[in-house]
Amino acid sequence: MRIAMIGAGYVGLVSGACFADFGHSVCCVDKDPAKIEALEQGRIPIFEPGLAELVATNVREGRLSFATDLSQAVQSAEAVFIAVGTPSRRGDGHADLSYVYQAAREIAAAMDGYTVVVTKSTVPVGTGDEVERIIRETRPDADFAVVSNPEFLREGAAIADFKRPDRIVIGTEDERAEAVMNEIYRPLYLNQAPILAMCRRAAELTKYAANAFLATKITFINEIANLCEQVGADVQDVARGIGLDNRIGSKFLHAGPGYGGSCFPKDTLALIKTAQDFEAPIRIVETVAAVNDQRKRAMGRKVIAACGGSVRGKTVAVLGLTFKPNTDDMREAPSLDIIRTLQDAGAKIRAYDPEGMEAAKGMLQDVEYARDAYDCAKDAHALAIVTEWNMFRALDLERLKKSMAEPVIADLRNIYRAEEVRRRGFTYVSVGRV
Ligand SMILES: NC(=O)c1ccc[n+]([C@@H]2O[C@H](COP(=O)([O-])OP(=O)(O)OC[C@H]3O[C@@H](n4cnc5c(N)ncnc54)[C@H](O)[C@@H]3O)[C@@H](O)[C@H]2O)c1
Repeated sequence: MRIAMIGAGYVGLVSGACFADFGHSVCCVDKDPAKIEALEQGRIPIFEPGLAELVATNVREGRLSFATDLSQAVQSAEAVFIAVGTPSRRGDGHADLSYVYQAAREIAAAMDGYTVVVTKSTVPVGTGDEVERIIRETRPDADFAVVSNPEFLREGAAIADFKRPDRIVIGTEDERAEAVMNEIYRPLYLNQAPILAMCRRAAELTKYAANAFLATKITFINEIANLCEQVGADVQDVARGIGLDNRIGSKFLHAGPGYGGSCFPKDTLALIKTAQDFEAPIRIVETVAAVNDQRKRAMGRKVIAACGGSVRGKTVAVLGLTFKPNTDDMREAPSLDIIRTLQDAGAKIRAYDPEGMEAAKGMLQDVEYARDAYDCAKDAHALAIVTEWNMFRALDLERLKKSMAEPVIADLRNIYRAEEVRRRGFTYVSVGRV
């Protein structure tokens, strides 16, 4: 199959490289010339484990190429995937669909022969209808179908998720388009990934429902964690106690500083807006978004409390900035609110993250960046663990204690055992544990 992938970001680049690895011929198109230039020189503009090797292999074998202009790629493609961003629209929280519609117009102008246009971007229910209308308006003569194929990969494990998905959702009622989609994903039949065929609107909604459900699960355990702290229970015991129930499942039951990232915050908001517009408000998700919003600053206050109630003039060492480990993605990371809360209270911030510092520099002010965890902790009055990178899981506590001004650890990811850290003389706070 010949595939054009419009947008070479976290989703477009991973999907494009994986499709090429399946044996298809893929051209990844991005409007950002710096991204394409980097890719053509063999540099990967994002951090995603395994991606550099996958891209290099498929470029070398002639299946993967890059371009800034989509015309040639689209003209020869049987399927054109739209994987551009759908951020929150400023002001109202609806998904900003301007990139999707712009891509649709450009695709319409370039396509030649029967073309399946696939939205992989997360888009509100009904967007496929609008994409179809735009293409039809631009090119009344065109032979095409618009399919929804939402993406469920997780940053940090994106390649494994793409190659071994729990399911593939394909939303179309066009049989020709369904055949093309089945052919594209055929290599995954070997792994027996279920392909769920449904109508386009159901596919669009499935993605939002999945993210909203996961966000709800996280928020649920976070509120249970608050209660655990009040009643003297350990949230990890409770999470295990409920998670082993198959109807509940143990994933996404880790209490922490609240969800962030490029998807959950914007997707929950967009679902809330869509549901309100259709007069079917989803109150539970409205509450989840509000609770999560509050939580990030509350985590900043937790660190302040661990420091005895004041951080004015003190240095807080922050370990981990990205919204989760194994990515360089800083979008909506809880660290941003936590750091601002600490700065508002007069703290100096020194931070370290193995991959996120470049992006953080453009988003935070007055932060000193360290070379590693120990450099970060030196002379600090508290150490806040915000993202659970593996390298933070087994720090030399003796060494930390010797170099810190005060032995205080706020472990917002519960990666240490309280007794062990306290035994070494630290003041230690975590989430949902006493
Ligand atoms: N990041 C994730 O983990 C994830 C997971 C599942 C779904 N999604 C969804 O996938 C979509 C893309 O997310 P992302 O994180 O990859 O975004 P991203 O911001 O990393 O990448 C989007 C890319 O599209 C490019 N672009 C925008 N308009 C273009 C156009 N007209 N032509 C060519 N390129 C264009 C941008 O330059 C950018 O490089 C979003 O809808 C997101 O919600 C993301």
